[in-house]
Amino acid sequence: MMNFQQLLQARRSVNQFDSNATISRDDLESMIESATLAPSSYNLQHWRFLVVDDKEQKLKLKKAAYHQQKVEDASAAIVILGNLQAHKDAERIADDLTEKGYLPAQYKENVINQIEGLYSNESMQRDEAIRGSSLAAMALMLAAKEKGYGSCPMIGFDPQLVRQEFNIPEHLIPVMMITIGTDLDPEMPRKIRFAVEEVTTYNGF
Ligand SMILES: Cc1cc2nc3c(=O)[nH]c(=O)nc-3n(C[C@H](O)[C@H](O)[C@H](O)COP(=O)(O)O)c2cc1C
Repeated sequence: MMNFQQLLQARRSVNQFDSNATISRDDLESMIESATLAPSSYNLQHWRFLVVDDKEQKLKLKKAAYHQQKVEDASAAIVILGNLQAHKDAERIADDLTEKGYLPAQYKENVINQIEGLYSNESMQRDEAIRGSSLAAMALMLAAKEKGYGSCPMIGFDPQLVRQEFNIPEHLIPVMMITIGTDLDPEMPRKIRFAVEEVTTYNGF
């Protein structure tokens, strides 16, 4: 089993999946369970997962993804959806915080009001849905790698068409899609990364 550094080093955005390979729902659900361990603002867990593992459905998704072949060849594609109405779970989350000793009972209402206040702003709802779901997406890709699967994050799709084809409710926005399957070429060279000093400043610009 690879350690964390090895997983990070080994992960690639897969170029070509083995179209004959399959993936079990147990494996998919185990990866999704790992993804749900990601952090999120107020623990609101904005992520939702639309799993597409049926051949016909994958073809529909491929069409919406501008015919990218990987969508068909991957064993499954997971559309990560961000919940614009995550604040509606505020009470459940606050109850858990109180029960576990994070939040004294007398402050519970304050926290719920704070969450509802923050999320009355539509751009905040959208930003948070994307932020939270993106963290889950990364965790999902690493969990896939740990199980021996390759993955590719994808934004090359028409979100309106995906919404329409898969009856996605209005309060969920497609954030990205992750295709998962058997990587036919896991030894592809790592693409350029900017050096730490190019991307880092300390204590301001
Ligand atoms: C948000 C996002 C969207 C992407 N969309 C696509 C896509 O539509 N199709 C594709 O082939 N690769 C897509 N990629 C993969 C990137 O091209 C890839 O991550 C990048 O070139 C770095 O390669 P690496 O992941 O192997 O290190 C996407 C990556 C991200 C993070």
